[in-house]
Amino acid sequence: MSKFYITTPIYYVNDKPHVGHAYTTIAADVLARYHRLKGEDVFFLTGTDEHGLKIFQNAEKAGQTPQAFCDENAAAFIKLWESLNISYDNFIRTTDPAHEEAVKKAVTTLNSKDLIYAGKYEGLYCVGCEQYKTTKELMEGKCPDHQKEPVLLQEDCYFFKLSAFQDTLLKLIDSHELIIDPPERRNEVLGFLKTEKLEDISITRKKVKWGIKFPLDEKQTIYVWIDAFLNYLTGLGWRGDKEIPKFWPADVQLMAKDILRVHATIWPAMLLALDMPLPKKIFAHGYFTFEGQKMSKSLGNVIDPTELINLFGVDAARYLIVSACPFGQDGDISKNKLYDRYNSDLANNFGNLVSRVFRLAERVEKFDFTPAEIFKEFIDKSWQDYHEAIEALALEDAVNIWVNLLNYINKNIETTKPWALKGESFDYAIYQLLLAIKNAALMAYPFMPEKCDLVLKSLGLNLREKADNTVIFESSEIKKPQSLPALFPRA
Ligand code: MSP
Repeated sequence: MSKFYITTPIYYVNDKPHVGHAYTTIAADVLARYHRLKGEDVFFLTGTDEHGLKIFQNAEKAGQTPQAFCDENAAAFIKLWESLNISYDNFIRTTDPAHEEAVKKAVTTLNSKDLIYAGKYEGLYCVGCEQYKTTKELMEGKCPDHQKEPVLLQEDCYFFKLSAFQDTLLKLIDSHELIIDPPERRNEVLGFLKTEKLEDISITRKKVKWGIKFPLDEKQTIYVWIDAFLNYLTGLGWRGDKEIPKFWPADVQLMAKDILRVHATIWPAMLLALDMPLPKKIFAHGYFTFEGQKMSKSLGNVIDPTELINLFGVDAARYLIVSACPFGQDGDISKNKLYDRYNSDLANNFGNLVSRVFRLAERVEKFDFTPAEIFKEFIDKSWQDYHEAIEALALEDAVNIWVNLLNYINKNIETTKPWALKGESFDYAIYQLLLAIKNAALMAYPFMPEKCDLVLKSLGLNLREKADNTVIFESSEIKKPQSLPALFPRA
């Protein structure tokens, strides 16, 4: 049985989850659910990134111990994923003792391969933030938060020989052995690897106390990114040894473009150094803005996904977030656009179709016809296109294919006016419409599991989400449904 391992980034716990985090996580959930329906053995990992200076400082500000602070914020992520119906198989936290032990072991292995050396880290340090800043982070040479020029500081630390992997990484990405998608992003990474020198990176911090102790020098802690990357292995139960977990390598590692470069350099270099296979595909989607503006705490325009759940319901919130922009490109969302989409796709199109046909079905007398005929060609073609779209991670295409199918069925109802038919012709027409609805509900299931499950159950189709369930897309007998309350009342 083929397996499918999908990951999201692990999110920093210094902030509460927002719609940007939800975007990646819902997309991953759609893919996980789709692959489960195909009968694949799926593992879906998400979690939280819990070390580092910022988290330590935020905990201090909140008057909490770092661990209590992490516990509280990790719980906020877990709660949101529960309310968004996220079907992850494991939620990894980097403060899990098993993760910490494995990271120490991995670092010891890197050292035994002569890939770690002692040196001095030099950088621009903002005393206010107690953090090194890159020149890009400064505004007119000053820290934007403290309006002070950072000081040039040097400290002892340990380096990982990242530079040794430049040529290998270039070759692997160039030859598509390590797939980076979409192509524009791949080109960016290739351009960088071709024109800039990959520098060795400092992998320890003396000033950061909230981190995993560096096994070779306990006065130092391990740089948070080194610790974080390994979650993709420890989340599968890896203990830092030679054993390759059953689900590794990942089939898809999802993230936004902000963290692609490190995922396309440091992460695969670490894997090569550990003699581990590389992920099959790294996919970087775009960035969300809200009503034309970057979402930020200071602008007060960060959308809380819970607000969208309260406005539209869980399924619609999932659907609207994930289809808000073409997957892979940047996009802007606004409340008006979300309302429009809700009313057109969900209330007027899908919801209306189901309630209309289910109501007509109450008049059906005979209910034992052969499989789809009237819509067969269109449905088969829709499935083919839908599968291709999802396999290519073109989630918005998959959504459009579904909407087109709904339009097609609705149009057919308008032209054929089945309600005016009598006897067996009526029964037959409704049966065909119900088969079309069954297909539409299956297609939308990964996006809107609750409502689609309800529709499918009313048709007598129980979805079993077991890995051995490989028959779900095959036509199976449907039963005469009862009317349902409106799936998506107009908003
Ligand atoms: N902790 C690191 C990741 C370590 S993975 C080994 C991190 N965390 S983060 O909390 O900042 O999350 C970044 C990720 O959140 C992005 O890559 C993306 O998945 C998601 N997003 C956060 N804001 C977003 C938008 N405005 N738009 C789209 N996705 C966004 O980086």
